[in-house]
Amino acid sequence: MSPLLPRIVPSPEGKPLPQDDTAAAFRTFARDLAAGRRPWTTEAAGFLSGLFDQLAGSWDSDLATGRDDPLHDALARGGSFPLGTCLELGSGTGLFTPTLEAAFGTVISIDLSELMLRHAAGRSPLRVRADASALPSADASVSVVAAIDMLLFPQELARVLAPDGVLLWINQLGQDGPLYLSSEEVAAALPGQWTSVEAAAGWGSWPLCDAFADPTTPGCACQSAAAPCMRRAGRKGPPYVVRRSGRVECGSADSSPTRWPRPTPEP
Ligand SMILES: C[S@@+](CC[C@H](N)C(=O)[O-])C[C@H]1O[C@@H](n2cnc3c(N)ncnc32)[C@H](O)[C@@H]1O
Repeated sequence: MSPLLPRIVPSPEGKPLPQDDTAAAFRTFARDLAAGRRPWTTEAAGFLSGLFDQLAGSWDSDLATGRDDPLHDALARGGSFPLGTCLELGSGTGLFTPTLEAAFGTVISIDLSELMLRHAAGRSPLRVRADASALPSADASVSVVAAIDMLLFPQELARVLAPDGVLLWINQLGQDGPLYLSSEEVAAALPGQWTSVEAAAGWGSWPLCDAFADPTTPGCACQSAAAPCMRRAGRKGPPYVVRRSGRVECGSADSSPTRWPRPTPEP
């Protein structure tokens, strides 16, 4: 179980609920895909790119929630983030790219639908039409993967994430969302061991997952019992520090030159 932070952003009135049967069918698809119970096929890719091409024109006005509580909450309370490129998967019309850019600097926005990407012009400066199941990114090259209401491709995501990288998974409508995955489902689908922290915010929820760093592996300097690696401790306590050399060490946020400054978490 990942640590559940207390909710600080209430769920406002008027939550938009997607059509029940359609949402349930998509959720089953998303769960089965993430868990490897069904394959990702060219037919599925073609169906979804066509569907989102059709929805692109009305996405911002009719289909987007118009809220960004879960993303803001995750950025504020998820802990420290590594410096480096953020890959935004299923970026759609780019509604969240400016927020991700403000947090991480460089954001590469990936989407299957050409028309969703076209509508993102002006919001997402670096747009790539690609399938998140086969990313055009080198191994271990990405610091943050942000996926907002998106399908999970666990193996591919783990391939491109750097050893200190994190996955920011946002369910805009929480359990009601058509692509909802719980933090347990996300963590179970990812290869290897991951630690995560999660919270509900507004209408949605978020887990933030990072790969479980084994302090005994070369490169991790957290081998002292007196100073256990903070990644091992499930992101509690002061954040670990990633040195520019790539070494991972325990430390405080103050001593880290390579972490984005995070706002002080609310008590
Ligand atoms: C529910 S929309 C969310 C869009 C955006 N993140 C937002 O919250 O406004 C899902 C997006 O993921 C894209 N998508 C679905 N499957 C994908 C895949 N395999 N690779 C890349 N993008 C994909 C769709 O084209 C669509 O734009």
